[in-house]
Amino acid sequence: MPYDSSALFTPFSCGKLQLPNRIVMAPMTRNFADNWLPTSEMAAYYRRRVEGGTGFIISECTAIDHRASNAYEGVPIFYGRAALAKWKHIVDQVHEVGGKFAPQIWHAGPERRAGIGPDYGELGVGPVDAFEGGERIIRGLEKPEIHKIIESFAQAAHDAEMIGSDAVEIHGAHGYLIDKFLWHRSNQRTDEYGGALKNRLKFAVDIVRAIRGAVSDTFPVIFRFSQWKVDDYSAHTALTKHDLATIIQTLSDAGVDIFHVSTRRFWEPAFSDGPETLAHLFKKLSGKPVIAVGSIGLSRPLILAPSGQFIGAETKLNLDRLVFSFQNGEFDLCAVGRSLLANPDWANNVRYGRFESLKPFTAELLKELY
Ligand SMILES: Cc1cc2nc3c(=O)[nH]c(=O)nc-3n(C[C@H](O)[C@H](O)[C@H](O)COP(=O)(O)O)c2cc1C
Repeated sequence: MPYDSSALFTPFSCGKLQLPNRIVMAPMTRNFADNWLPTSEMAAYYRRRVEGGTGFIISECTAIDHRASNAYEGVPIFYGRAALAKWKHIVDQVHEVGGKFAPQIWHAGPERRAGIGPDYGELGVGPVDAFEGGERIIRGLEKPEIHKIIESFAQAAHDAEMIGSDAVEIHGAHGYLIDKFLWHRSNQRTDEYGGALKNRLKFAVDIVRAIRGAVSDTFPVIFRFSQWKVDDYSAHTALTKHDLATIIQTLSDAGVDIFHVSTRRFWEPAFSDGPETLAHLFKKLSGKPVIAVGSIGLSRPLILAPSGQFIGAETKLNLDRLVFSFQNGEFDLCAVGRSLLANPDWANNVRYGRFESLKPFTAELLKELY
């Protein structure tokens, strides 16, 4: 067998989250919700990955209760009895075959444009107003509405625990609302939510604290962070290691239990002045469990073409490097995205050395929910 991946198939626990192995399904939007509600096809799709050996499912992003939280057709909501009942069915299906589940709760922020449901007339919202051709396209948030959004995140986390989820993930990455508050380029507020990094962190910190107060002590709160944005792969929220340490320490103190460090290539150094990856730095600086992600098993990083189409990638077994970094203590869990779309049984194929049966990722795969 060319690769010994057995280290990745050992149990992990954090609070009430008890995982059979270290393979996590990365959150991936699929746009298959029906009238904003999850479906039984979605339940079967997640269940299939667990049957294929994945231990932990992090759901596609799902919108919290706010009139401008969603940005894309077919993205499920995470509020209201009808949606929560459907999500509970997904949780039950994942549990039935031995997997664990966390929803990724999300507010799109300025990535939203008016004309998208469920409230079609609503503008996107962000730290500050934004204009295009003299017309306002993004509405800057006033403080009472910020507080309302924080409460909605807490309600979503509470509901996640109530329907039996094993953890909750806050989407703090990729240029959506929370990240837009963190990033100096998008947050020009002059109140306590803008300006210095500590202030730009306040929105995320308030959300983490509100969630901590709304869930039980052993219910893990995961925070997903990235430097890159959906429209700028070279962006940096943390310009230096010092900034990064402030971000990590502040969020950790607020109550984050696990950091999910979203990079496009899991092995790349985070900064030019040292070899450590971003996941490794999170691990070193927080001492908390870390999920690494980015091009596991694939030749090419995530690329979203201007057409909105994802670019395909060949399989590439970079597992030696993955296992080496894992055994070196650089992260605790590894999330797999596109490889798991192409191969529902990716985890078992890797575990049992069936590398020749792994299929590449193609954009065609996104047309169906298999
Ligand atoms: C189709 C697709 C949808 C995605 N949707 C989300 C999402 O809803 N939330 C999120 O945090 N990341 C999302 N991502 C990013 C993935 O979670 C992951 O970080 C990225 O694909 C890199 O992992 P990979 O190289 O294993 O695919 C998406 C990626 C893909 C390919």
